[in-house]
Amino acid sequence: MAAAKLQAPRGTFDVLPEEALKRRELYRRTWAVLGRGGYRPFDSPAFEDTELFKRGVGESTDIVRKEMFTFEDQGGRSLTLRPEGTAPVCRAYVEHGMHKLPQPVKVWYWGPFFRHERAQAGRYRQFSQVGIEALGSDDPSLDAESILLLAELLEAAGVRETTLKLSSLGTRDSREAYLAQLRRYLREHEGDLSEDVRARVEQNPLRAFDAGHEGTRAVMAGAPQLLDGLSAEDAEHFAEVRELLDDAGVSYEVDPTLVRGLDYYTRTVFEFESESERLGAQSGVGGGGRYDGLVEELGGPPTPGVGWAAGIERILLASETRFPGAPRPVFVAIDESGTRRAAFGLVTALREAGIRSEVEQAGRSLKGQMKHASRIEARAVAIVGEGIEWRDMDTGDQRPVTGVQEAVRIAVGMNG
Ligand code: HAM
Repeated sequence: MAAAKLQAPRGTFDVLPEEALKRRELYRRTWAVLGRGGYRPFDSPAFEDTELFKRGVGESTDIVRKEMFTFEDQGGRSLTLRPEGTAPVCRAYVEHGMHKLPQPVKVWYWGPFFRHERAQAGRYRQFSQVGIEALGSDDPSLDAESILLLAELLEAAGVRETTLKLSSLGTRDSREAYLAQLRRYLREHEGDLSEDVRARVEQNPLRAFDAGHEGTRAVMAGAPQLLDGLSAEDAEHFAEVRELLDDAGVSYEVDPTLVRGLDYYTRTVFEFESESERLGAQSGVGGGGRYDGLVEELGGPPTPGVGWAAGIERILLASETRFPGAPRPVFVAIDESGTRRAAFGLVTALREAGIRSEVEQAGRSLKGQMKHASRIEARAVAIVGEGIEWRDMDTGDQRPVTGVQEAVRIAVGMNG
């Protein structure tokens, strides 16, 4: 009986070479864009103390309540596969005393993250994020700069037709006060609300803004808005962020109902949405905001911060770009009169000269090798027999060459 086949766990996937090449290319472009903005690379462990996310992301969020991969290590410590990158960056900032460095400290990261979500198109249990964080300044230009960098990255990745949603949440206190006011308002109009919204008044009153139900919509048209309740200072900060974005020619929609699924946000929040059908129900490609209380929450000095993260898989799904594949190789074929040793010598010499090249390694006939060379889109085939023949696969020209040196010279010449 054949052994049962194994599969990658639900919500995970293999990155096959074709896709891996696209990721490398996106990584290269990301490095260029974020490096220009003054952000430096950073990495944190794939798992952390569970406490970090409970405190950082917030006990009441879906992420902490339902989506964490938490386990005990052999010493009985509770660890969690990181569901996001902001809390780890802030933990590292405190742990390494980075407040002593010139501020703001700007870093970017790229790597795997884990959330136990219902898997579907664009939503996975292991996914990759690219993100940036700037710590140590509450200057509105950092908010604007980070938004511009995400816009530039999406552009460089070929993600077109995005909508930027923008809002300000104010401080935690003003947000709490607003939510209490909104709940009161919803209860006063309970009779006109859909059942669904009514059931969520306590838990998530902001949901009411998204309702399709006619009665609810009429009620919401007159509902109090979070943006109207900002303190003068927070309103001024938001106005400055908007002014800088306007100057930079970035278009955005102010969406007072934009809330993000993490508790640490204060002041600016934003999200880029894409209409791409390939994303299914997941329209958010990247988002972030300011988190001025988080470092302190994690035991550090009061330190403002702002940043974002974007999903690599979602970027690639939404991208309209055909990322360039690998360069076309030279194929070294062996005919009946040739030896494996001579062919191997030639492929080694080609590689030393910087030429991407492959050699016959599957015992095919010469005819089979030529077919194989076409399949791998070789630009030329060097046929090793008694001598060496060079065949240009685009023109079909074939001629003998004097030896390894001339073959290498031709291959290098083709590069130029
Ligand atoms: P987030 O909105 O939870 O923010 O995630 C950012 C991005 O990660 C999303 O826009 C999405 O593209 C991608 N993403 C999230 N969950 C999944 C999933 N299950 N499958 C595929 N992609 C996913 C944060 O994580 C914050 N740390 C962002 C931030 C940085 N805020 C301030 N600094």
